[in-house]
Amino acid sequence: MSVLPEFREVMASAWSHDLTELPGLDYLSSPTGTIKEAQDLAAVTFGADATWFLVNGTTAGIQAAVLATCGPGDALILARNCHLAAFSAMALSGCHPIYVMPVQDDGLGIAHGITPDALRRAFNTALSEGRHVGAVLVVCPTYFGVTSDIAELASICHEFGAPLLVDEAHGAHFAFHASFPVPALAQGADVAIQSTHKVLSSLGQSSMLHVRGERVSHERVSRALQALQSSSPSYLLLASLDSARAHAQLPDTFREPLEAAAAARKLLRQLPGSGLLDDHIQTGADGVHGVDPLRLTLLADSLGMSGFALDDLLQSDFGVCAEMCTDKTVVLALGPGSRVTHVRQLAAALEAIQGRSKSLNQRSEPPPLAAKLPLPEMRLTPRQAFFARTERVPADEAAGRICAELLCPYPPGVPAVVPGEVLSSEVISMLQQTAAGGGKVAGGVDGSLKTFAVVFEPP
Ligand SMILES: Cc1ncc(COP(=O)(O)O)c(C=O)c1O
Repeated sequence: MSVLPEFREVMASAWSHDLTELPGLDYLSSPTGTIKEAQDLAAVTFGADATWFLVNGTTAGIQAAVLATCGPGDALILARNCHLAAFSAMALSGCHPIYVMPVQDDGLGIAHGITPDALRRAFNTALSEGRHVGAVLVVCPTYFGVTSDIAELASICHEFGAPLLVDEAHGAHFAFHASFPVPALAQGADVAIQSTHKVLSSLGQSSMLHVRGERVSHERVSRALQALQSSSPSYLLLASLDSARAHAQLPDTFREPLEAAAAARKLLRQLPGSGLLDDHIQTGADGVHGVDPLRLTLLADSLGMSGFALDDLLQSDFGVCAEMCTDKTVVLALGPGSRVTHVRQLAAALEAIQGRSKSLNQRSEPPPLAAKLPLPEMRLTPRQAFFARTERVPADEAAGRICAELLCPYPPGVPAVVPGEVLSSEVISMLQQTAAGGGKVAGGVDGSLKTFAVVFEPP
């Protein structure tokens, strides 16, 4: 792991630095001293007017951004492939979701960004329903490093008088090199929430929320975060955020990782059987504005096996650990610690696997695409469903009932049903087929999908 040397020393004596709100150490919930100084430095660095340090990840940042902008009954227009945190944020705020389906790559079964036209349609739906739109929430970049046309989306939001909130969990590094996509704030987004712990070098769970411009009240963000965060924040996490900012600013932090990413693309393109997402998608196509060079998405199909099988092999036989995989892809995340030697190891592993793959023939039937099913009917808002009395019923009795849990199949990472929506037999069988095909269904309590939590309806 590549980190600031001074922070390495702090962590070598972590116990003595695991402090609390002692004199001189400031208060996270109402900072006026050292924490404010560090947050102000971060704001300047990330191009924000104000930055908040988060000790419960981007999860708390998304929840705070929604609470700061959407009151009970307001509409939140959101991409359907938003993170789980967006759904808990709606339960907290009591807002009314209007979903926008992301563009779906049918061949790969993955979701990209939303289009400006789809966003415009969602605003028109809100207008026709007489709803005030509190905010729009999108995820950019996606897990696969694909970015959306944030400038265009922001301009539509502003035309309709709503702020654009961007879940930039995977893009905290964008401000630090011209080779990266332009950060969301620089493109006109009002809020960007970044998992500093993902690509940058802060400790797990530490993130930042940035606000730019006047559309989002700083006071409401602070109040929301006071409600959501611990009153005993870890000073190790806070120090790691300041350190990650300083580390990312060093002139050479991304030089070798970018060289490694370029070398990886070159080496992999020379391997006859290996495919890369970059070569498969077209920048400028719907929902695809650019690709983060530090995300390498391998297309497992070209090696004749599923992404799950390729991920297993890479990890068990070659010590290559992927960020995530789907039926057809394996996503590798490069960061400040990535070196050219690492990507040579990856290329050698893929070459060896290629030799074996013909005999392995592990390719399975692709799971059905969740995003191809129509959006389920919403009978209750996420908040009403959260507080409703629920029961658990066998799968064959669940169709037609109001779902009480969020069920999100990977691929493609687009929730098939969220609390308050009606479970259909098509959704149930698609989820079961996804799991049977080696995919994952996140969010449910019963991983076997033999039972589902539904809202109780009196006989
Ligand atoms: C797109 C996206 N948003 C938000 C989150 C939540 O971030 P955190 O783990 O920092 O709370 C994640 C986590 O993986 C994510 O992938």
